[in-house]
Amino acid sequence: MPRDIKIAPSILASDFSKLGQEVRDVVEAGADWIHLDVMDGHFVPNITFGPDVIAKLRPHTNKVFDTHLMIEPCDPYLEAFAKAGSDIITVHAEATTHLDRSLQAIRNLGKKAGVSLNPATPENVLEYVLDRLDLILVMTVNPGFGGQKFIESQVEKTRRIREMIGDRPIDLEIDGGVTPATAPLVAAAGANVLVAGSAVFKGGFVDGYRENISAIREAAAEA
Ligand code: DX5
Ligand code: ZN
Repeated sequence: MPRDIKIAPSILASDFSKLGQEVRDVVEAGADWIHLDVMDGHFVPNITFGPDVIAKLRPHTNKVFDTHLMIEPCDPYLEAFAKAGSDIITVHAEATTHLDRSLQAIRNLGKKAGVSLNPATPENVLEYVLDRLDLILVMTVNPGFGGQKFIESQVEKTRRIREMIGDRPIDLEIDGGVTPATAPLVAAAGANVLVAGSAVFKGGFVDGYRENISAIREAAAEA
């Protein structure tokens, strides 16, 4: 059965000097969610932005704010990201010792809870937390940077996770190297949310973003 595919542009690839405008433009161009990549220079070798930037972006759109925390530790900051206006907060399984506790904390803050897995992390870490999850994020690159090459081994992992999910209402999201060429692979494996940074923001401006988003969506729909 074909799934409704959501496209979540990552503002990591946008022009940081005009973030509010970029968010409005990409929404106008057809984005379903806004993906917010938070990096700490410790869990991943890059630094981006924190809750204050997200709070300033919040008034620019009503779209779902999909916050991807690549920070360690994560627990001390969950409340700040919730208050900033995140709708979904995703933590990395590798960045929290007590994953079950972190997921409970996110839901207790009234937010949807996600877990992300690095390419080398097997899917079995999800087994005992499935009922605490609203979203699973499969990294198809090693986190830290946009514009990297899609790691093919993650397609099989995605397929296995879709099986594990069964009929639970959990979104299965892919992040890293998503393009019109790779989108059909992960869509066929059962993903229903596709993050894309460079493939959306290349070219600049609303018309370009619209073409880029449509190209990914159409390629995924053909899977
Ligand atoms: C990588 C980030 C991704 C990144 C994807 O650590 O989590 O969201 O922005 O960028 P592309 O789509 O360019 O691979
Ligand atoms: Zn991300």
